[in-house]
Amino acid sequence: MKRSTFLKMTALAGTAFTVLPSSSVFGHPSGRLRIGFIGTGLRGQELLRLSLMRDDTEVTCICDIQEVMLNSALRLFEKAGKPSPKIYTGNDYAYREMLEKEDIDAVIIATPWEWHYPMAMDAMDAGKHVGCEVMMGTTVDEHWNIVHKTRETGLQYMMLENVCYRRDVMAVLQMVRQGLFGELIHLQGGYQHDLREVKFNNGQQPYGGGVEFGEKGFSEARWRTQHSVTRNGDLYPTHGIGPLSKMLNIHAGNRFTSLVSMASKARGLHEYIVEHGGADHPNAKVEFKLGDVVTTMIRTAGGETVLLQHDTSLPRPYSLGFRVQGTKGLWMDLNESLHIEGLTKPHRWEEAKAWLEKFDHPLWQRYGNDAKGAGHGGMDFFVIHAFLEAIKRGEPTPISVYDSAAWSVITPLSEWSVANNSNSIEFPDFTQGGWKTGKQIFANSDDY
Ligand SMILES: NC(=O)c1ccc[n+]([C@@H]2O[C@H](COP(=O)([O-])OP(=O)(O)OC[C@H]3O[C@@H](n4cnc5c(N)ncnc54)[C@H](O)[C@@H]3O)[C@@H](O)[C@H]2O)c1
Repeated sequence: MKRSTFLKMTALAGTAFTVLPSSSVFGHPSGRLRIGFIGTGLRGQELLRLSLMRDDTEVTCICDIQEVMLNSALRLFEKAGKPSPKIYTGNDYAYREMLEKEDIDAVIIATPWEWHYPMAMDAMDAGKHVGCEVMMGTTVDEHWNIVHKTRETGLQYMMLENVCYRRDVMAVLQMVRQGLFGELIHLQGGYQHDLREVKFNNGQQPYGGGVEFGEKGFSEARWRTQHSVTRNGDLYPTHGIGPLSKMLNIHAGNRFTSLVSMASKARGLHEYIVEHGGADHPNAKVEFKLGDVVTTMIRTAGGETVLLQHDTSLPRPYSLGFRVQGTKGLWMDLNESLHIEGLTKPHRWEEAKAWLEKFDHPLWQRYGNDAKGAGHGGMDFFVIHAFLEAIKRGEPTPISVYDSAAWSVITPLSEWSVANNSNSIEFPDFTQGGWKTGKQIFANSDDY
């Protein structure tokens, strides 16, 4: 059987919520998975560095449109002692030539949000599995199109949502699964990160706090800031909703049913420009549409509520603001504490540290050492490991295309709600009923 046919067949089984026997191992003559990278900016470089550490994977080609980013990526190959990849560059669509010419099994996409959708669609049209950085598309239709494309092609799409693998979050997942918090009632999370220096960065000192963005910017300042000019909603929901969704067994007997969103006024980005660039700086005239704090509430079929907050334009320390609350107690990450009726003192918080150690996830116990030095406290190791292992073995990825779509579609739904006086909007069911019988395969073992 041709390798591509084999992969398509195995992946098709995956999207139908079926776990294949582990004998369905990957059949490349070299015994290695062959992958390409589209986007070797700051995030792409971290995912690349981790991929280059693996013996079961060859990165044979990379694509980017900025020389500076390609050069940094090439240094990673040298450092890892791996052969230099074929490079595709020169224009925005050079990646298409790479997809057409290269005999690769999968691509990792780490480009600006607006590029994820066309690149993922083109990759699947070219017969490649997709591991894509967070955000699947910008409209609801784009999310449906990706889901349909996986069904049509039998290929897999996994959003590389790394916070699902954060060590404390995985320990709390274990506690949820073992019933310590009782029946889940209400969860909170979000993206609360002062990104002002990232959004205005001239590149002379990375994250050095300029007031430039667009062409004059560096890394995310080149593209991310523009989204804050033209859009208003929760632009980055997946770090919060991903882990919570796994605790709620979304698409394994549960699903999101409706959403409402409300945005505050926008002040932070403008004030930052005036303070750092002066009131006469041309960017001081830019009117930012994105509210400084956007609050979203989601209801599930199981009757739980989820509150998400997007807060990236004001001075504040970083926190994803997790809260996991059930009939027996709750955990919060901000005060690193929990309370469990009958097990901790009544009406008192208890430091969570010892509990998190006791419920440390088997994946972290097995791979904790390998994850040392990987980005974001080690969790980046696990997300790329999960994608590559699943594709290599022809098994369903632990974050499915349905999960990816449901987490990312929060953005266009929230934009709609904000623009419509915080009216409620129904959540699309990308599984078309499959959520009722779907099995939970995320982090069920110490494997991947
Ligand atoms: N999961 C996480 O923790 C995490 C952290 C940071 C960034 N991200 C995500 O990763 C993605 C990339 O972010 P980043 O910080 O690396 O940004 P970046 O600007 O540093 O990198 C993006 C790269 O894409 C390249 N690019 C743009 N258009 C292209 C095209 N048409 N063809 C080929 N290459 C193209 C750019 O030249 C740049 O090198 C975003 O989706 C971002 O949200 C995720």
